[in-house]
This record gives sequence, C-alpha cells and structure tokens, in this order.
Amino acid sequence: MEMIRGIKERRSIRSFTDQPVPDEVWQEIVSAASYAPSWKNTQICRYTVLRAREKIDELASAAVMGFEHNAEILRNCPSLVVLSYQNGRCGYERDGSFSTSKGDRWQMFDAGIAAQTFCLAASAYGVGTVILGIFEEDEIAKRIHLPEQETVAALIAAGYPNETPQAPKRKSVEELLRLEENQ
Ligand SMILES: Cc1cc2nc3c(=O)[nH]c(=O)nc-3n(C[C@H](O)[C@H](O)[C@H](O)COP(=O)(O)O)c2cc1C
Repeated sequence: MEMIRGIKERRSIRSFTDQPVPDEVWQEIVSAASYAPSWKNTQICRYTVLRAREKIDELASAAVMGFEHNAEILRNCPSLVVLSYQNGRCGYERDGSFSTSKGDRWQMFDAGIAAQTFCLAASAYGVGTVILGIFEEDEIAKRIHLPEQETVAALIAAGYPNETPQAPKRKSVEELLRLEENQ
C-alpha cells in the first residue's frame, strides 16, 4: 500500500527552494531508477544532472521553443535532469533491423518508464520533479555535449518542493478500464 500511496501522491512540482540536492541523494534516486524494466534489459537511459545556474538559464533562453511557461520553470529549478537514451539498441536486432512493427519507438517507451521510475524514486526522497516535453532536443544535446550516440528523451526539472499542488483531476476507472468477459 505504501507503493500505491507513493504513486498517487507524487505530483508535478514547478516551484522549488534553492536548497541543492546532495550527490548521495541523486545516487539513491538513480539506483532505484535502475530497477525500471527495459527492452531485453538493455538499460539504455542515462541521467545527466545539470546544476550550474548559467547552464540551466542558457537552456531556458535557447532550448524550450520560446515556451515561457517552461523557461520560467527552468529559471526557478536548482537542478535539471536531461534524460537521454542510447540509440539503436532497444527495439532493434543485432543486425540493426527493427524487432517489431513499432520500429524505433520502444526507445521512447523505455525512456518513459525510466522517467516515471526516476520521478517516483525522487518523490520518495522528498525531491520534487516535473517532466518537460516542450524543448529543442538537438539544441539541448549540443549545449550539454551529450555523447553522439545518445538522444534527449525528456527534461526533468528537479529540486526540493516549494509548493504542494493538488492533483489534477483524473479520469474515472470506468472510462479507463475495459474488463472484458466474452473475448
Ligand atoms: C511526457 C510529458 C510531458 C510533459 N510536459 C510538460 C511541460 O512541458 N511543462 C509542464 O509544465 N508540465 C509538463 N508535464 C507534466 C504534466 O502536465 C503533468 O504530469 C500532468 O498535468 C498531471 O499532473 P501530476 O504530474 O501532478 O499528476 C509533462 C508530463 C509528461 C508525462
């Protein structure tokens, strides 16, 4: 039940205190996130934690497609996690062909699982997060010198929460769940 409470109580946090998250806490969070399931256990995701104020501000100005809402979150967060994945392994055969009709999309699928596992673990350590989807991936990759064989999957702004937001309304179980009897 503790896990269910953790799932339900994690919130996207967009306002943070200035208190830095210690290295040991990042290590614990990524240790937990490493237990996320992945395609053939390929574990393609990487977490680059930016802490330099100037670098995060630079990305806020140059790499969020002019979306002021996200720029403001970046300017306010003490740390920004760039979630990336190694290209060409997850969803691929050894000869480079796709394993399934989903082509290369299993990479983002695994990154999504990794992101949520990371955010849940962070929440358990008292660290607030918000996943950000509106950004320029090539611009981010270039400006943080991401290894060439990796692609940016998502940004995760993170830090100790300075707000306790209500949960946005959820759809009903009746709408989400189809319990079939006859097929
Ligand atoms: C793939 C993805 C992209 C998102 N992009 C943004 C974003 O660009 N900016 C933002 O403020 N929140 C973003 N969010 C956060 C969602 O708005 C948030 O998860 C949703 O409103 C539910 O709120 P909760 O996380 O507190 O339950 C994103 C979430 C996901 C999963």
